[in-house]
Amino acid sequence: MKKFSVLFVCLGNICRSPSAEGVFRARLEHTPLAEHVQVDSAGTAAWHVGKAPDARSQAAALRRGYDLSALRARQVSVDDFHRFDFLFAMDDDNLARLRAMQPAGSRARLSLFLDLVPKPGVREVPDPYYGGEAGFERVLDLLEAASDALVAHLQRECA
Ligand code: 4NP
Repeated sequence: MKKFSVLFVCLGNICRSPSAEGVFRARLEHTPLAEHVQVDSAGTAAWHVGKAPDARSQAAALRRGYDLSALRARQVSVDDFHRFDFLFAMDDDNLARLRAMQPAGSRARLSLFLDLVPKPGVREVPDPYYGGEAGFERVLDLLEAASDALVAHLQRECA
């Protein structure tokens, strides 16, 4: 079976992209794809490098059964564009930052994560950092829908 590698990208790598990593890993876990897909996350900014995910993201994720506690933030590097097949940005601003960084001839395909969802109602996963608890739940709702769509997409690519 073909192998795939997927990198989720947000701004700080402490809210949205580590949540995407946790949700998508859980969605993959009991599928035949599990052994064939490499998953990671990173931020376009360096402010939180080395930190665990935001306590509010961890709590919201854990309530749905996703344990994010082992994850640590890192910044996107030029090497990521050569190592990963897919870079999924959480919003337009981070997609633009990635496009500006992408080296010529690199393999990574860049898109918004929610582009995979047929009718998400929104294009972007909204940044929950300066908002209330409902924002973190909304992030997880969107990430669960997009993760299901990504599993289906990779299964089709493998078929
Ligand atoms: P994330 O959220 O990009 O989903 O990890 C943020 C985390 C930190 C900040 C902004 C957004 N910040 O301004 O420090």
